[in-house]
Amino acid sequence: MFLARRTLLRLSNLKYSYYTVNQNLEKSQYDLAKSLYAKIKATGPITIADYMKEVLINPLGGYYIHKDMLGESGDFVTSPELSQIFGEMIAIWFLNEWSKVGSPKPFQIVELGPGKGSLCQDILRVFKHFQALKEASVCLVEISPFLSDIQARKLCAQTILSKNEDDPVYRQGTSITHSTPIKWYRDLKNVPNIFTLLIAHEFFDALPIHKFRKTDLGYREVLIDIDKTKNMTFRYVMANHETPALKLFLNKNETREEFEVSPQSLVLVKDIATRLEEDGGLALIGDYGHEGEGTDTFRAYKKHKQHDPLLEPGTADLTADVDFSALKNAAIEEGKVLAFGPTSQRDFLLRMGIEHRVKNLGEAANEEQMKSIRFGFDMMTDPAKMGTRFKFLSLLPSVLKDILQKVPVVGFH
Ligand SMILES: C[S@@+](CC[C@H](N)C(=O)[O-])C[C@H]1O[C@@H](n2cnc3c(N)ncnc32)[C@H](O)[C@@H]1O
Repeated sequence: MFLARRTLLRLSNLKYSYYTVNQNLEKSQYDLAKSLYAKIKATGPITIADYMKEVLINPLGGYYIHKDMLGESGDFVTSPELSQIFGEMIAIWFLNEWSKVGSPKPFQIVELGPGKGSLCQDILRVFKHFQALKEASVCLVEISPFLSDIQARKLCAQTILSKNEDDPVYRQGTSITHSTPIKWYRDLKNVPNIFTLLIAHEFFDALPIHKFRKTDLGYREVLIDIDKTKNMTFRYVMANHETPALKLFLNKNETREEFEVSPQSLVLVKDIATRLEEDGGLALIGDYGHEGEGTDTFRAYKKHKQHDPLLEPGTADLTADVDFSALKNAAIEEGKVLAFGPTSQRDFLLRMGIEHRVKNLGEAANEEQMKSIRFGFDMMTDPAKMGTRFKFLSLLPSVLKDILQKVPVVGFH
């Protein structure tokens, strides 16, 4: 069907050298640590959610703002960077479900946190192959100007940057492959209200979490304070009172020693549900996560190794496992959407026919290329690697209930 162009490049030529870290990065990250230090000194310990937000997206030196973190030379590798087949399976899922409702047009493909733009590129290639880009547009929700540049170079021949900082569309262009309009937004709330195919892969794990721990006094929130024994270092402390987040999120039946809640994720998934109900559309959320049993999952990654989240803020990725049961409950709470999953990445990809695609690509591949294809397949589906830790959740408008009872959502059954 398609050529295995980038699968092979991504695996056998993992250099990712076209961007280097911003020259001012060290200074700005020092400024970030200084500003966190000053903030805590002035107002007292801060929540992990506040810390995560500052460290990841503060314009001063936030991790996502200045850095290409994906790939072998970065801090971690994601499935879209491992293999083009990943994006192809996702594209097929959207095409299949979209066709069940008559492929409404115009429509938009919305990606939250597009990274290097590889997933979007693979989805567009499949849509083009099936001549499904008529009346299509793409909306990329990306906070990082640096990554938006990488995405733009991958997807468009040229893009125009908005001169007005308040413009919700800060960059725009058309795709190289099919002249599909592509616009960049900082926030989903500004994305147009039309029929939407929304993908969020490894996005929710980057959203801030609050962390709580059982103590002799009941649950208390874990906060971040400055370590007075060392200059410019941070430490965890327990709140000595019930914080607003604890009052809001403590479930009466909670028994875990520790638990985490991401309020921003819950608000976002509710916004997605509202969009799907009001404008029509489908959403697919893929990430590493648990189903409500997770405890202490807040961690940092640097150069493919776990790192102390409190050390050198801004130089390492901060992340927490996605609580898929909380996400699902928030999404379906108001009855606007139906949720299917979470299902493991392995089951999802196998049900979507990844083995056939591997076989099909293999027919035109040489030995080295076949090795790369197998490597990507194993990484993505092996239960000991990404196969079960990564999960998929799909959201579809509740109005489709009868249709979906007759023709169930692919990939989830
Ligand atoms: C872990 S990367 C995942 C990239 C890509 N989806 C993949 O799977 O390869 C997270 C992406 O989300 C973006 N991001 C993180 N926090 C964001 C926020 N609050 N708003 C918009 N984009 C954000 C990052 O800049 C990055 O593009």
